[in-house]
Amino acid sequence: MRTQVGIVGGGPAGMVLSHLLHLRGIESVVLELRSRQVVETTVRAGVLEHGTAELLRQTGVGERMDREGAVHHGVNLQFGGRRHRLDFPELTGGRKIWVYGQQEVVKDLYAARLQEGGQIIFEAAATGLRDLDTPTPKIRFRRGAQLDPEAGEIRFHADAEEEEITCDFVAGCDGYFGVSRSYIPEDVRKEHVRTYPFGWFGILVEGPPSTEELIYALHERGFALVSTRSPEIQRLYFQCDPHDDVDNWPDERIWEELQARLETDEGWTLKKGRIFQKDIVQMRSFICEPMQHGRLFLAGDAAHIVPPTGAKGMNLAVADVRVLASGLTEFYTSGDNAILDAYSETCLRRVWKASRFSWWMTSMLHRFHDEDDFRYRLQLAELDYVTSSRAASTSLAENYVGLPMEPAPGDTANNRGRAASAST
Ligand code: PHB
Repeated sequence: MRTQVGIVGGGPAGMVLSHLLHLRGIESVVLELRSRQVVETTVRAGVLEHGTAELLRQTGVGERMDREGAVHHGVNLQFGGRRHRLDFPELTGGRKIWVYGQQEVVKDLYAARLQEGGQIIFEAAATGLRDLDTPTPKIRFRRGAQLDPEAGEIRFHADAEEEEITCDFVAGCDGYFGVSRSYIPEDVRKEHVRTYPFGWFGILVEGPPSTEELIYALHERGFALVSTRSPEIQRLYFQCDPHDDVDNWPDERIWEELQARLETDEGWTLKKGRIFQKDIVQMRSFICEPMQHGRLFLAGDAAHIVPPTGAKGMNLAVADVRVLASGLTEFYTSGDNAILDAYSETCLRRVWKASRFSWWMTSMLHRFHDEDDFRYRLQLAELDYVTSSRAASTSLAENYVGLPMEPAPGDTANNRGRAASAST
């Protein structure tokens, strides 16, 4: 099999890349380990920065997001029993966010690519990459793969043979546990890791929303977050021991904990509903440098992970592939490598800033139970400052709605316009 860009991983990074490349007349093949049905029904995070939502809309895949997603004009920060709202458009010159599940974004992209004859091979596991430092890198893969989430293992149909895709470029969009990153040689790869001494207990609830906008709360017992998925489905989280087990948490205990952490002096109450999913999310910051080696380019979680407190994960993936798509477009139209050569540096500037923001939000909003009160009091003072100083609220707001895209070298307004107009 031959293609221009071989994409390992059909999540948001891989699919936005494949979509942007198609609009610029560049062919790709996407390999996705899971089945289409599993990807489309696994609930993931769901906050889109202003610029991410704009990109989807401008490239013709924002229609359902605009119809079924919810635009949010702010978030609430809660501490000391009081809630404070940050008004994003007011603080950032009109910018806002969209709450629309990651799996919905991917579902829209699968539909768009398949309708245009795009090639996505589901249940296909990349088994290795080779010739990355030649003009014809190759991806080996096997079809009929099944991920056993319990064992964390990939199984294959007994008769699945190894196949190979020869490409001009390989995009490693296969997430934190994917194989791509390991092909950046160890002697040039630096991995920055920070783990946090807590996790998030997440629940999905059938029922109406308790609040119009997200609530991030710091309470003596720990962090809590009220988010949403749709008018009928709510997503809530609370800080927990990362080694805890969902079986330790019967529904009643969950509601008691959430109620305690979210209580306000104004008598606000949390609306309960049927809990139909419980999971524990690990909290980690991770950055791999560089994000490129030879003709392999990493994008999204394959290269970096942020804790979910800043809602940046999917947005960073989209920002990466936006740069990559510009670089590949420039390469194929003029033979110029400038954007591709600067890919890692361009992306990492944004990645480090988003990592700083996610780390800062996480540090401000969680209880570090093994530390003394001094730290907790500083966190409360910081929240007081952030919610009472216009300069400080503006700083949070501009990071939350998304910092402006770094212009990639040569990524002219003209270039961006081409991607937008190709969709009409
Ligand atoms: C979510 O709705 O899943 C969500 C929202 C905001 C966050 C993280 C997760 O910061």
